[in-house]
Amino acid sequence: MTDVHETIHAVTSHFDTIFTWDYSRTRPALVKLYEKAKTSQWNASTDLDWSIDVDPEKVGSELGGGGPQRFQALREAEGSPVKHFGEKEWRQVSVELQNSLLSQFLHGEQGALLCTARIVETVPWIDAKYYAATQVMDEARHVEVFARYLDEKLGHQHRINDNLKAILDDILNDTRWDIVYLGMQIMVEGLALAAFGLMHQITTEPLLKKLLRYVMSDEARHVAFGVLSLQELYANLSDAEIRERQEFAFDVARRLQRRFAHAEMWERMGVDPAEVYRAMERVNPPAQQMFQQLLFSKIVPNCKKLGLLDASGGWLRERFTEIGVIQFENWVDTGEEYDQLDEVAKDREPARA
Ligand SMILES: [Fe+2]
Ligand SMILES: [Fe+2]
Repeated sequence: MTDVHETIHAVTSHFDTIFTWDYSRTRPALVKLYEKAKTSQWNASTDLDWSIDVDPEKVGSELGGGGPQRFQALREAEGSPVKHFGEKEWRQVSVELQNSLLSQFLHGEQGALLCTARIVETVPWIDAKYYAATQVMDEARHVEVFARYLDEKLGHQHRINDNLKAILDDILNDTRWDIVYLGMQIMVEGLALAAFGLMHQITTEPLLKKLLRYVMSDEARHVAFGVLSLQELYANLSDAEIRERQEFAFDVARRLQRRFAHAEMWERMGVDPAEVYRAMERVNPPAQQMFQQLLFSKIVPNCKKLGLLDASGGWLRERFTEIGVIQFENWVDTGEEYDQLDEVAKDREPARA
């Protein structure tokens, strides 16, 4: 086990950087989103109270169903590699799990920063270039707040999870501009929005709570950006082209789920992650099933809104049915809800009154 890892990682890709000479504002939904993004910017240095003291053990212990409870069945399970763990080790699991979750949020945010910088270059529509530029700033702020919280309040960061790293590499490797949108804005950010929401609901740590509340209000716009842009594009693709997108989306979804197995956390605890997976698969505890399903609560309705569920013979609907997440299809999609989720505007409201 080591914390030493490469500090630079290069992804090679050959894509077209697109100029457009058509500056007319023809996409009102994106214009509205861009205006919202400009007025809902926040400053991580001054809008959050970094003087708050944080107790990592308390924060970890609150994770509950989003954290150690998922693995509690391993206390007793046949062939469990952590049967010898006592209360001290389980407390440590909570702390490391919290660090692991936030570290993967951090690395995912950097992925989002690079993907949106890419979208600025590759999307052919001026309204989308404008909007994506605001998202680049949002993502820089998100990287900043998660890195600072981990360093100043929790003490250390975990390396990037192999599944997440492979997903980000695949997304950035692709030369088709819409695949960067689909991979990042719909899948990675859709899942992040669900995961941030779970953590925001359960934590009582005031700095983390406000940080998540503000990050989520930005993320809701980001997912909306993906939905609004791809809806237009996907309405005009052939069945074969749509099928490629469906397969890509499903593959990313499955790999994203696996990143929540927290290999790097188990390594840090001196346990072979492969043994943990085998034991978890045998037991398949309800707390874990519930958690894995909830991660899809934003992805499924957003895929539906894009027309990806039922296009090409309903291929994606069948896959989501097989893995037990199709019940989210009629949950609210993120094309519209960013307005209600704008916590930054809500906090500023009394000051204006
Ligand atoms: Fe973000
Ligand atoms: Fe984002």
